[in-house]
Amino acid sequence: MNSKQVVLITGSSTGFGRLFTETLARKGHTVFATMRDPGGRNAKNVSEIRALAEKDSLPIHILEMDVTDDASVGRAVDAAVAKAGRIDVAINNAGYFLSGLEEAVTTEQARHLMDTNFLGPVRVNRAVLPHMRRQRSGVLMHISSGAGRVILPSGGFYCASKFALEALAEAYSYELAAQGIESVILEPGQYETPVFGNTVKAADEARTTTYGAVREIPAKVNAALSSTAGNAQDVADAVLRIIETPAGEKQLRYIVSPQDFGLNEINALSKRVQTSVLEAFGLADDTKFRKGKAVGSV
Ligand SMILES: NC(=O)c1ccc[n+]([C@@H]2O[C@H](COP(=O)([O-])OP(=O)(O)OC[C@H]3O[C@@H](n4cnc5c(N)ncnc54)[C@H](OP(=O)(O)O)[C@@H]3O)[C@@H](O)[C@H]2O)c1
Repeated sequence: MNSKQVVLITGSSTGFGRLFTETLARKGHTVFATMRDPGGRNAKNVSEIRALAEKDSLPIHILEMDVTDDASVGRAVDAAVAKAGRIDVAINNAGYFLSGLEEAVTTEQARHLMDTNFLGPVRVNRAVLPHMRRQRSGVLMHISSGAGRVILPSGGFYCASKFALEALAEAYSYELAAQGIESVILEPGQYETPVFGNTVKAADEARTTTYGAVREIPAKVNAALSSTAGNAQDVADAVLRIIETPAGEKQLRYIVSPQDFGLNEINALSKRVQTSVLEAFGLADDTKFRKGKAVGSV
C-alpha cells in the first residue's frame, strides 16, 4: 500500500474529527473530511478548514455526510472514490453523549443515539467495504470510548451505543481479516472537545425528580469528566500512529486516556477469552489476517 493513504472521516466539523483531519493531512494523507450541513450550520467550520488547507497546502476535501442518512453516506463515499479512486481508511467518529438517568431517556432519544453512534458506522462500513474488498486492503476505524468497556451511571444509553459498536467492530475484524482488511477500535478516555457542550440531556425530567440524591449523578459524572479531560491532540496522534502501522500489525483495540481505569486488563482478558472461543468453534484459521488475499469477489 502507498504510505500516503486516502482517509474518510465522519463528524469532521469539530473536536476529534477536525483534529484527525488536520493531523493526518499534515502528514500527507488525503483526507475527505465529512460533516453535516457544510453550507449551513457548519459553514464557519468549513471556511476555517478550507483556509487552513489553502494556507498550508493540505490535501483536505470537504464532503457533506449525515451518518443517519443512507443516501447521504452513499453520496459522500461515491464522491470520495470518484475523486481519489480508493478509500484506505474510514474513521467512524461522528457521535454524541446522552446524559441522564436511564428511566428519563425517551425511546425517541435512545433511537436517535443508536441511529448516530451505532447505525452511523454500519452505514459507512457498508458503503466503503465494497471498495476496500476490491482493493484487497483497508482499515475500518471505530471511535468508541472507555465507556465502550465500562459503565457509568447516567451514561447507560451512550455506553450501550459504544458497546454495540465494539461488538460489531470486533465481528468485522474476524470476518474481514482473510481479505486483508483490518477493523480497529480506539477507546478514548475523556478529552477536551465540544462533546460536553453538545451533550443531550434525558428529556423526561418528571422521572428524574423522583430519584432523590441519585438525580445528582449525571451532574457529578459530567463534572468529573470535564474537569479531568485531557488534550484531544493525544487522540489524533494515536490515530496517526495506528493508520501508519503496517497492514496486519494493528491491534484490535487501542486505549488512549488521561486516566488509567484498568481498561487494559479488560481488553487483555477479552482477547484471551475470544481466542479460545474462536478456537473452540474451529475458526482460528478463518479469522487470521491475510495480506491482499481476496476471498470471493465483490
Ligand atoms: N471527547 C471525549 O471525551 C470523547 C471520549 C470518548 C469518545 N468520544 C467520541 O468521539 C467522537 C467525536 O466526539 P468529540 O469529542 O470530537 O465531540 P464533538 O466535537 O461534539 O464532535 C462530534 C461530531 O459528530 C458530529 N455528528 C453528530 N451527529 C452527526 C450525524 N448525524 N452525522 C454526521 N456527523 C454527526 C458532529 O457534527 P455537527 O457539527 O454537525 O453536530 C461533530 O462533528 C464521538 O463518537 C464521541 O462519542 C469522545
